[in-house]
Amino acid sequence: MSLALWNKSDTPIQTLRATQRTRQNANSVLKLHHHAFKCKNAEETRVFYEDILKMPLVCAIVEPSDPITGAETPYAHLYFELADGSWLAFFDFPSKYEELECGFDKTDVWTHHIALEVPDEATLIAHRKNLDDHGIEYMNIDHEYCNSVYFFDPNGLVVEFTHNVDETERYFHDKARDVKQDMEHWLKVRAEHYPEKA
Ligand SMILES: [Fe+2]
Repeated sequence: MSLALWNKSDTPIQTLRATQRTRQNANSVLKLHHHAFKCKNAEETRVFYEDILKMPLVCAIVEPSDPITGAETPYAHLYFELADGSWLAFFDFPSKYEELECGFDKTDVWTHHIALEVPDEATLIAHRKNLDDHGIEYMNIDHEYCNSVYFFDPNGLVVEFTHNVDETERYFHDKARDVKQDMEHWLKVRAEHYPEKA
């Protein structure tokens, strides 16, 4: 699939890593702090992430009012911890979502998803079995540079669990080298196929 389009280098991996480290050291945006999404129900969301996926709930902030409007509409802000110290966060703000009339089933993998890394294939297989045991449907896609499972949480958020493979590191190094011409190529393809969207 994707690897067929890869102009693979034979540069030593140490050289590629040094280039990457220099680029990353120049970046003041450090890492993902948290990703926030609405939730239908705080306890239902806790059961899904903490009891089933084993991501501990480490913080539940109960706010008395809306900080933007000042309205006395209490809401909660939940944080589920990942191994690197970042969080998946959820707002349980029932009156807000009624106001916005936003459904929880209006998204798909192309609109929005959050991808979380697991260490290896064995762990991904164990997660697939866990999802099977809980009757949670998923879709497995091997992207070749990583291998992923996609499923919906109770809030309509698409969650991806993915693990890197031997090729992943070199793939992303080489794609960084080629990124300008790849973008130019995409803009041409886009203009040809979707001229009305220019
Ligand atoms: Fe993804």
